[in-house]
Amino acid sequence: MGLAWDRVYNEDCLVGMKKLPTGCVDLAFADPPFNIGYAYDVYQDNQSDEEYLNWCRQWLGEIVRVLKPEGTFWLAMGDEYAAELKLIMQREWGLFCRSWVIWYYTFGVHCARKFSRSHTHLFYMTKDKDRFVFNEDAIRVPSARQLVYQDRRACPKGRLPDDTWILRPQDLPEGFQPDEDTWYFPRVCGTFKERLGGHGCQMPEQLLGRIIRACSNPADLVLDPFAGTGTTLAVAKKLHRHFIGFELSAQYTQWIEARLEAIEPGDPLAGELDPLRRMPSAPQAIPLAPRSPSPARGHRKSQANLLSNNLPLLEKHESD
Ligand SMILES: C[S@@+](CC[C@H](N)C(=O)[O-])C[C@H]1O[C@@H](n2cnc3c(N)ncnc32)[C@H](O)[C@@H]1O
Repeated sequence: MGLAWDRVYNEDCLVGMKKLPTGCVDLAFADPPFNIGYAYDVYQDNQSDEEYLNWCRQWLGEIVRVLKPEGTFWLAMGDEYAAELKLIMQREWGLFCRSWVIWYYTFGVHCARKFSRSHTHLFYMTKDKDRFVFNEDAIRVPSARQLVYQDRRACPKGRLPDDTWILRPQDLPEGFQPDEDTWYFPRVCGTFKERLGGHGCQMPEQLLGRIIRACSNPADLVLDPFAGTGTTLAVAKKLHRHFIGFELSAQYTQWIEARLEAIEPGDPLAGELDPLRRMPSAPQAIPLAPRSPSPARGHRKSQANLLSNNLPLLEKHESD
């Protein structure tokens, strides 16, 4: 029993994962529908709480089965079911939670009568408490000692990012240096060059890049049961990993195949590794100045103001 690697399958992941041998996957990343009524072309994203949680239970169990004993699993989840799913993963499937990362983003959907959502939960889970891959040198960022204080005692390799990943640092100009509890990855919104179109849930390649670099090695097998636009698979291919993906929609699967076809291992990831250098793609947009070692507060604030003056350039349904 088995499936060829380096492919996406147009198949229900529950059916597909059953064709994988036990203990073959090094790293799995799942960004399932959040059961919030999102309009996918095939999947109905509006089950009862009980149906949704039971469904999650089943595919989580399959992921745990196909993971190697030292394998790693990352789950992306919205607020609605984050707490329940963390408990299911830990208490029912015996996974260990190494980090509960918050991915903070801007350009979220605008809400009129509550606070607009600007985060997704990312659960970093391992099958074994002590044995797992974690390539810390692959994901280091410059530390404040290096960037701000130019302290000779700073580790020249930089430091590990903390567990809140922010997308648009100009919103918090005095905070969120890269060595703080912050990861800088923009959501792939409508105006970005990286955006493929047709699917509103495309994740940024740089976010998957950090996860795949840290938690797997070249030639490892990466699984994404909810492939969507194929970001995980595309990044795995670029980073010389093997991959298998499942996607329920035939249309999305065709788009993923085309995306993968256009990629060669070793290709650069889309987006800036340091989004402080990212500019809005509209021609009249005002670029951020490169970060200086010790920028003055007023200066950073004026950059944020200039950017917010450009809001009409953004898509209508996006909040900023
Ligand atoms: C949130 S999207 C994933 C987006 C993806 N992370 C990306 O970057 O493009 C979830 C996807 O899961 C797919 N899906 C839903 N149920 C599925 C199932 N049982 N098996 C496989 N795919 C499924 C949906 O069609 C949708 O494309």
